[in-house]
Amino acid sequence: MTLATSGEPRRLRFSAFVMNTNSHIQHGLWRHPDAQQHDFGSLKLWLDLARTLERGRFDTIFFADVLGLYGPGDGDFSVNAREGLQFPNNDPSVLLGAIAAVTEHLGLVFTSSVLQAHPFEFARRVSTLDHLSGGRVGWNVVTSAQESAARNFGFEGLEEHDERYRWAEEYLEVVYKLWEGSWDDDALIADKAPDRPQDAIYADARSIHRINHVGARYRVAGPHQSSPSPQRTPVIFQAGASAAGSAFAARHAEGQFILSPNVDSTRALIESTRAAASVSGRDPHDISFFLGAAFVVGDTEEAALAKAAELDEYLSSDGFLLHSNLAFDPKTGEPLDPDTPLSQLSTETNVSHLRWMRELSPDPDPRVRDLATLAARLRGRIVGTPEQIADRLADWRDAGVDGINVMNWVLPGSFEEFVDHVIPVLQDRGIAQREYEPGPLRRKLFGHDQLPESHPARAYRGAFRGADE
Ligand SMILES: Cc1cc2nc3c(=O)[nH]c(=O)nc-3n(C[C@H](O)[C@H](O)[C@H](O)COP(=O)(O)O)c2cc1C
Repeated sequence: MTLATSGEPRRLRFSAFVMNTNSHIQHGLWRHPDAQQHDFGSLKLWLDLARTLERGRFDTIFFADVLGLYGPGDGDFSVNAREGLQFPNNDPSVLLGAIAAVTEHLGLVFTSSVLQAHPFEFARRVSTLDHLSGGRVGWNVVTSAQESAARNFGFEGLEEHDERYRWAEEYLEVVYKLWEGSWDDDALIADKAPDRPQDAIYADARSIHRINHVGARYRVAGPHQSSPSPQRTPVIFQAGASAAGSAFAARHAEGQFILSPNVDSTRALIESTRAAASVSGRDPHDISFFLGAAFVVGDTEEAALAKAAELDEYLSSDGFLLHSNLAFDPKTGEPLDPDTPLSQLSTETNVSHLRWMRELSPDPDPRVRDLATLAARLRGRIVGTPEQIADRLADWRDAGVDGINVMNWVLPGSFEEFVDHVIPVLQDRGIAQREYEPGPLRRKLFGHDQLPESHPARAYRGAFRGADE
């Protein structure tokens, strides 16, 4: 929920969508003369960007992440390498430690798949970052849709789509138990007892509990290695929009990243997810919806259109086709006939993406050959003057969107341009914040530091008291 005093326009949140890699979303753009993303190993690039985002009062920087190659599990990866398409990539959580040091308010959101880290290790890493950043961490929970990622972690291939979400359920159960249940609020005392050193006590074992989790995939004894951080559980984000994905979001997510072709389908998605959250006992306004959008800004509409045409010249069809994960037969790994109608594709990996492409197409029967153009030119792109962009964003806000997940063409230029030219107009209209609220990320977004009682993770608070005796 975006807090606003009644009578004032509702403010949107802003998140900068990035990845610690060369080519994240707008494939081919790394070749643009202004693009610096090829230098993603440079700490300076990211620290400067983070400072720019704070200057623009962005709420979060949000790192995508993948642990394998797009394309068939054991196929050729020459396009991945040539395009630098999310490969090579570096760990965002390491980078966020550095960003935390040069920022004060920016939310630090990163993607981590249930596939990649054991929940015990992951819970400690997140708690560490949440301690060090004063409670600014968010976690985008993903289940991994790359066949090759599964193979990197010892599996034959991907688990079936809905099974991956069941896996995520258990993963969350483990980390919730560690974050919420293992340590009581009064466990950490840190009393040096200067007058009676023999009575010094750092932490009280009676208020620290094993969790003794035994489930289908994990056995975790506990206690949690970290004491409770400011938020305990990081702000939970999620990005899938299939039936299983939306149900998962309704149960767990505090932020959902969405890509959506039009206002009506966005409104419907938001309303149905909020209704499902209500059914699972949550306050439907404890979920914020962040819509992905990419901006092309000009002093005049003509200038913006000319700039868009210039950006188009750098787009790579090969890159978009590979990223879509839809241009080859998932069983054989063979490329699909470009004339195959999208309506005939079935996908285990990208249910919502495919549905969205079909909705987006002006052609009622789009084909595989249309995927690249659909993705590149139409996906969330808003072209215009800052004032025109503000009008469009006000429309999205009125459709129920809470925030914008700003995708970039070039790093750091796309964000510098947005912060310098668009944010001031949005601030003047009351659509963007001028100052940060104090406190942890969850307080900034929802008004409270820790999860509300109605969130399923809170069931574990106090649940293990007495279990060790
Ligand atoms: C805005 C956005 C960001 C995403 N970021 C990642 C990511 O960083 N890593 C990843 O493995 N999947 C990412 N995904 C994919 C989703 O987690 C999910 O696997 C995908 O949308 C398919 O889920 P569904 O079948 O439930 O729709 C992202 C999706 C969206 C819409």
